[in-house]
Amino acid sequence: MTDLAIHPIGERVLSGSVPVPSDKSIGHRALLFAALCNGKSRVSGFSFSADNVSTADALRTMGVRIETTGKSELTIHGAGLFGLRAPDRSLDCGNSGTTMRLLTGILGAQSFATKLVGDASLTKRPMMRVVGPLRARGARIEGAPHPSRAGDITAPLEIAGLGEGEYLGPLEYESPVASAQIKSAILLSGLFAHGVTHFKEPNLSRDHTERMLAALGVPLRTMGTIVELDPAGWSGQMPALDIEIVGDASAAAFLLAAAQLVPGSRVVTRAVGTNPTRTGLLEILRDMGAGLSVEPLGERAGEPIADIHAWSQPLRATTVGGETVARAIDEIPIACALAARASGTTSIRDAEELRVKESDRIATMVAVLRAFGVRCEELPDGLQIEGKQGPLEPADIDSHGDHRIAMTATILGLLGRGPTRVRDVECITTSFPRFVGTLRGLGATIDVC
Ligand code: S3P
Repeated sequence: MTDLAIHPIGERVLSGSVPVPSDKSIGHRALLFAALCNGKSRVSGFSFSADNVSTADALRTMGVRIETTGKSELTIHGAGLFGLRAPDRSLDCGNSGTTMRLLTGILGAQSFATKLVGDASLTKRPMMRVVGPLRARGARIEGAPHPSRAGDITAPLEIAGLGEGEYLGPLEYESPVASAQIKSAILLSGLFAHGVTHFKEPNLSRDHTERMLAALGVPLRTMGTIVELDPAGWSGQMPALDIEIVGDASAAAFLLAAAQLVPGSRVVTRAVGTNPTRTGLLEILRDMGAGLSVEPLGERAGEPIADIHAWSQPLRATTVGGETVARAIDEIPIACALAARASGTTSIRDAEELRVKESDRIATMVAVLRAFGVRCEELPDGLQIEGKQGPLEPADIDSHGDHRIAMTATILGLLGRGPTRVRDVECITTSFPRFVGTLRGLGATIDVC
């Protein structure tokens, strides 16, 4: 197991202009859609995060040829919509909920059987949210009983193939949670279904799937939080993709927050995706009085990008809730770190989804904040955090195998009175393989032990 020893930044500052890894959500989709396209797709700016590699490996196991053709470039030989082959072993989704849920949407419509497995964290994540609506349109999927959520199931998932002459039917589904994973699984199944797919969610979750499918000529209509796919008259052919993936806003978030938290710092994250369904943290930062400027650079592969400049300014407490949560869902842990240094008490509500992420992020953040000497209160759907001035207590943190908890704790560790240890940090490669190197480049002292 690898740990990090984080040395207090003291009087030093973080400074520099850095790239961030490519967007993990878009990376999954680029791989999956390229596999279903006809022809040879090129995906560049790919950062080989462990989660994206899980998706690529699962596709390879189903006969898709994926070659590394450059330092950060993949060539994917599309199999066509009906060209995936029966795998000769289980598909290992690793730590990646997106891999498992999106693949389930595709695999429920195939003529062969598959089994999806994952690591210990993925084997606790709820899967009925995608399996339920997919069953409702004819997919046959079974899972293991969920250990703590009555009526729910989790990995491994066993997906039976459809028989000769069987196909998925139409589906009208209103999701109780705003979730791009549920939405994408259902839309992907809709590519194979006979009849219309109609999906509605309570707030708009990230819309990368809709953008990419529409660009590939799939007959998709979006109306606010409703999306509809009507394949009538569609050829079922998607042209090859040529896409350069934008920088990951969720990875940039850690560096932008670090720049706020270390007095005197100034950091630029370059070519970051600023899709409005992902910019909740930027709004939270603005509400807190952070030093922030977004310099748009146009669009890349249908996604807006910008250089984002951040510099430290005194922060004030804020209230986070409602639809902002869906647009900042992966940034709530680092928003908690900002709240820990703001003047006043920050309240984060409507965030019960955090309980079913890579860890229970409400419970794990409460433990992290308390270990650093920050007062906070756990709520069923969020937390309340009292900002603390002066150095934090040096802490010994267990990441719980959750990459975003490990990175948040690392950044808080810079503000300690003494060295902080963050345990079990291999998980950081899930989304930000060069995280430690990037922070060191900006001026932090961190030992890997
Ligand atoms: C993701 C969607 C979000 C997010 C996850 C990636 C995606 O999950 O938390 O990290 O790529 O679709 P939910 O859709 O379940 O909220």
